Amino acid sequence: MRPAAVAMPSAGPGPAAPRLLIYGCGKLAEAMLSRWLSAASLDPAAVTVVVPRLEHAAALAAATGTRALVDSASSEGGASGKGHGAAGASDGLSAEVATAVAEADLILVAVKPQQLASLTTRLAVATRPSQLWISVLAGVSLAGLSASLPVRWQRWMPNTPCRVGLGLIARCGESGGDAAALLADALMPPLGAALWLPEARFDAFTAVAGSGPAYVFAFAEALAAAGVGAGLDDEVSAALARDVVIGAAALWAADARTPQALRAEVTSKGGTTEAALRLLLPPAPDEAAQGGALGLPRLLAAAIAAAMARSQALGAAAARSRA
Ligand SMILES: NC(=O)c1ccc[n+]([C@@H]2O[C@H](COP(=O)([O-])OP(=O)(O)OC[C@H]3O[C@@H](n4cnc5c(N)ncnc54)[C@H](OP(=O)(O)O)[C@@H]3O)[C@@H](O)[C@H]2O)c1
Repeated sequence: MRPAAVAMPSAGPGPAAPRLLIYGCGKLAEAMLSRWLSAASLDPAAVTVVVPRLEHAAALAAATGTRALVDSASSEGGASGKGHGAAGASDGLSAEVATAVAEADLILVAVKPQQLASLTTRLAVATRPSQLWISVLAGVSLAGLSASLPVRWQRWMPNTPCRVGLGLIARCGESGGDAAALLADALMPPLGAALWLPEARFDAFTAVAGSGPAYVFAFAEALAAAGVGAGLDDEVSAALARDVVIGAAALWAADARTPQALRAEVTSKGGTTEAALRLLLPPAPDEAAQGGALGLPRLLAAAIAAAMARSQALGAAAARSRA
């Protein structure tokens, strides 16, 4: 069972609750923040969000009750000239943002990888040794993060079901029992299941779990299209495909048997499912007989290898761009 919510460390009387600062609040960070707030895992008063556009900051503050600040520096570095940065800036960083960064215990960096270098150069003046910095940037290694900003770094790789608390998050890097590390730990359960992985396994995790939801949706698309090919209406077939995926997932969530066992339950000897599975899961010699069809296991193995190769290439490109 996944816990629905966790209490913030140090909440209530005593030492102040640790402060979270989120730098860049696009699709991913916004989904994580809204999940943390709806699960009551964070007090909005202990959260600051920094984004480049004034309208976005105003919308975030109104929607979440957090403090939202503007860092008007462009991705190329320096002030953007959009006219919404605060006064007193040093290297394009407003005094207000610099203070908020310096006061934060945990800093979640959720900008695009290509924006990291200019950001960290400017933020260096506002770091403290007790802070823990989190990066969700795809393909940027711990070594690359430390080279950009020599602070304590943790790397997270979340997948999209985090939005509904059923995600997977791989973590590597600095851990510990201090307030910032405890807050990082407490932020995991509302998102889903977290696992510490050696960084060398991040490309494999990304290929299997990060991209995994897309494979399931691709399967649903293909099932819906096949249903149309078999004579069902578009809408009916799309609804059936959705309910098949949701129903099978819910069944598996309620029944801890292996997928092989659950599949066998639907597959009677000489029946319809068996006829279909002969194509989807062909024994190796049958693949040639089916005109070279790969079958699901070999097709997925090839897909995962392609995703891993792409993850490695993106990481190498990110490293080259910082060199
Ligand atoms: N999306 C996913 O499912 C996913 C999964 C795993 C990892 N990631 C990683 O998460 C990171 C964010 O991805 P995303 O999909 O959320 O991208 P996104 O929607 O483009 O978010 C990036 C955010 O950073 C903001 N930003 C740009 N420059 C900034 C600055 N100088 N100061 C503060 N904020 C700044 C952008 O603001 P504007 O929009 O106003 O320019 C935008 O809100 C990426 O590094 C990606 O590799 C994403």
